[in-house]
Amino acid sequence: MDVKGQVALITGGASGLGAGAARVLTKAGARCALLDRNLALAEELASELGGMAIECNVVDGEAVEAAVDKVVATLGAPRILLNAAGIDVAIRTANDKAPHPLAEFERVIAVNLTGTFNVARIVAHRLTSAEPLNDDGERGVIINIASVVAQDGPIGQAAYAASKAGVQGLALPMARDLAPYGIRVVTIAPGMFETPLASGIPQDWIDKIIPTVPFPKRWGNPLEFGALVQQIAENTMLNGEMIRIDGAVRLGN
Ligand SMILES: NC(=O)c1ccc[n+]([C@@H]2O[C@H](COP(=O)([O-])OP(=O)(O)OC[C@H]3O[C@@H](n4cnc5c(N)ncnc54)[C@H](O)[C@@H]3O)[C@@H](O)[C@H]2O)c1
Repeated sequence: MDVKGQVALITGGASGLGAGAARVLTKAGARCALLDRNLALAEELASELGGMAIECNVVDGEAVEAAVDKVVATLGAPRILLNAAGIDVAIRTANDKAPHPLAEFERVIAVNLTGTFNVARIVAHRLTSAEPLNDDGERGVIINIASVVAQDGPIGQAAYAASKAGVQGLALPMARDLAPYGIRVVTIAPGMFETPLASGIPQDWIDKIIPTVPFPKRWGNPLEFGALVQQIAENTMLNGEMIRIDGAVRLGN
């Protein structure tokens, strides 16, 4: 689809990768709705970009329904959904003192996996009745964010890796479910990108990992991530797949 003039709904759009994508899509002519639990940050970016900000927890079904209705009423149907809201924890499965707290496992699954599906199902439903955009009958694209952690499985990442492997698993069945409506589903698996979420990673781990990135030997920039989001939106043949954007890194233990 031509991104110009389209509405993009970006969860977690106030920060990091979501914010990077919002900048790129706005520059390409899209209008962005930033849905985030951090309203102050979302408003700051929305006023800079000329988009709209909505406070919402992606796990809350009713709140997401209301937020999507607000976007449709204010900007129009979002033809691009980027599910970028996410959280991380680093806890081993068990040690000699305690097992992994179950509540922490459930919290990560809730935001990263259930939250992603929650927003996707509601936006997809709204799009089923939208006008097709082109001769292919395309109505929209849903872009979910997994992580290379889903495949590489580093230490302390059981909850996060499981949540992101779940997001990877959504791509093909959702693409097949939504194909009759011309809605594509693509997953991105980023490697190491410099964002506030990544700033929670211990420095000694970062000092070990960045030199193992084959090329380029540095953090990814959220604008490079945003460029991939734009390409996925524009390229109708991308569907039902997960794309790694990682400088060829493979995270060991
Ligand atoms: N930064 C990386 O290196 C990296 C690598 C792989 C995957 N990812 C994934 O990319 C996504 C974005 O990460 P980021 O690095 O930009 O993080 P970030 O912390 O900079 O941004 C995440 C945003 O999501 C929002 N958010 C969190 N929980 C929410 C909820 N329940 N409801 C609504 N908003 C919520 C936060 O307020 C924040 O604005 C996450 O899913 C993350 O797991 C990041």
